[in-house]
Amino acid sequence: MVRSIALSSVFGYPFILYLGAITFISFSFTALLGYRYFTGRPLLPFKWHPRMAAASLTLAVIHAILGLSMFLGF
Ligand code: HEM
Repeated sequence: MVRSIALSSVFGYPFILYLGAITFISFSFTALLGYRYFTGRPLLPFKWHPRMAAASLTLAVIHAILGLSMFLGF
C-alpha cells in the first residue's frame, strides 16, 4: 500500500514529511538558479534551471500521490 510508504518512520518521522521538505528545498533552489541567472550572476549554467524545475515537479507529484493515498485509501 502506498499509504504505508508515506507513513513509514524515518528517524522517528513519516517519510512523507522528508519528501515534502526535500520538494520545497528543490523548488527553492530552482527559483534561486532562475533568479541568479535573471540578475546576471548565474550560480550554474542556465540548463540546470529547467532540469531542476523538472526534478522538483517530479518530487511534487510523488509527494502528492503519497499524500492523497492517506485520504483516498490506496
Ligand atoms: C520554482 C520556481 C520556478 C520554476 C519551476 C521555473 C521553471 C522554469 C522553466 C521550466 C523555464 C523554461 C526553461 C527553458 O526554456 O528551457 C524557465 C525559464 C526561465 N526562468 Fe524560471 N522557474 C522558476 C523560478 C524562476 C525565478 C524566481 C526566476 C527569476 C527571478 C526565473 C527566471 C527564469 C528565466 C530568466 C528564464 C528564461 C526565460 C527565457 O527563456 O527568456 N525562474 N523557468
